[in-house]
Amino acid sequence: MKKLFIQTYGCQMNLADSEEMAAHLFTRGYMPTEQLEEADLVLVNTCTVRDHAEHRALSFLGRLRQWKREKSGRRIIFAGCAAQRLGQQLKKTFPYLDIVSGAREIDQFAQLLDKSGFLSDAPGGQPVQKGITGYVTIMRGCDFACSYCIVPTVRGPVKCLPSAEILQQAAKKASQGYPEIMLLGQTVNAWHEDGKTFADLLNEVSALPGVARVRFVSPHPAFITPQFLDGIKSNTKIARHIHLPAQSGSSKVLQEMKRGYTREILLDKIHALKQIGFSISTDLIVGFPTETQEDFEQTLSLVEQAGFSAAYCFKYSPRQGTPAAEMKLLDEKILEQRLDILLNKVRGLAEAAYQQQMGRTVEVLLETPNKGRTGEDFWIQTQKSYTVGSVVQTEVTASDGTLLFTRD
Ligand code: 5AD
Ligand code: SF4
Repeated sequence: MKKLFIQTYGCQMNLADSEEMAAHLFTRGYMPTEQLEEADLVLVNTCTVRDHAEHRALSFLGRLRQWKREKSGRRIIFAGCAAQRLGQQLKKTFPYLDIVSGAREIDQFAQLLDKSGFLSDAPGGQPVQKGITGYVTIMRGCDFACSYCIVPTVRGPVKCLPSAEILQQAAKKASQGYPEIMLLGQTVNAWHEDGKTFADLLNEVSALPGVARVRFVSPHPAFITPQFLDGIKSNTKIARHIHLPAQSGSSKVLQEMKRGYTREILLDKIHALKQIGFSISTDLIVGFPTETQEDFEQTLSLVEQAGFSAAYCFKYSPRQGTPAAEMKLLDEKILEQRLDILLNKVRGLAEAAYQQQMGRTVEVLLETPNKGRTGEDFWIQTQKSYTVGSVVQTEVTASDGTLLFTRD
């Protein structure tokens, strides 16, 4: 049997896409390997959200030139968002590339493989089961047009999967031993179907046999509405953590980013989420072209006011073809300084959030006999041992800033 090595860059959506593409390779004679050296085929699934991410994927591809020379019959597939952006022209720079498959072509991946001529139907291996979380893609694409973002270009407009298919996928994952289901989409909570809302879908997935907990990523603040919160607030299987990208704390910059909300609207939504027990992490961009020192300070103050449990901070990266890429860039030194200051500010967030869990009764989904995650997404260690995948209620009695501890 031939061996497949997978290298995935970027978000959870890409991890799920890699799984989907790998499934097609497992019915065409391949089994997975974790060792590049013993692989016959490498699948590189790429990200282009920032230049740095794309650069990493391309330099990995550069290193594969030598890998391919070392043994005859070796093949390379370059897939995902960077493949979508750069297209077939990649084959000019990297002539040893066998297949280029953009993120928007994932539905046609199997046909593309069959056209390639070097794969044939043959029994292959099984994916390696890791962890307790089963990923289910529920929508793809994005109908927003944030002025800095390349995602709508490479991923295209929103396409929602039918709820029947989603429920079937989630039930399958649960029966395979994944008690936690993570629903995925670029703007996951834009999911809709005639007569059914995203809240309805979350409730239906959580009611499937074997599902202990449901999470979702990445939501857009626009769809965090009172109706949504009403729809989920009595369902404790919906984990009380949300990764809600704020991007900036300045209403002026948010408007120029075309995010569709102000700082005040965002803070109201954050407040409403907290009222029903959510911990909130976020993404922040520093150095958007029009960001003044005052705007940047607004982002710093948002971090304080919002009480995020974590924040991923990025330097603005101009993406060709986006409206913001036409604007004059700020000095790189300013970007670096601002990123440094923001990183210092967010460094203590997790520790403080862990401290705030002291004394609370939490629900833990066990990932090992003694360790698991709370619904609010904090790691916790238990004194007693439990069955992996079960949910226990327990009280938090101590925290070391990165891990919670319990009495029992
Ligand atoms: N520059 C920097 N960060 C970006 N992101 C998206 N586009 C850019 C860009 N051009 C960040 C946003 C988003 C996360 C996935 O990546 O914060 O939420
Ligand atoms: Fe990009 Fe904005 Fe769409 Fe998110 S909502 S993928 S940041 S355009």
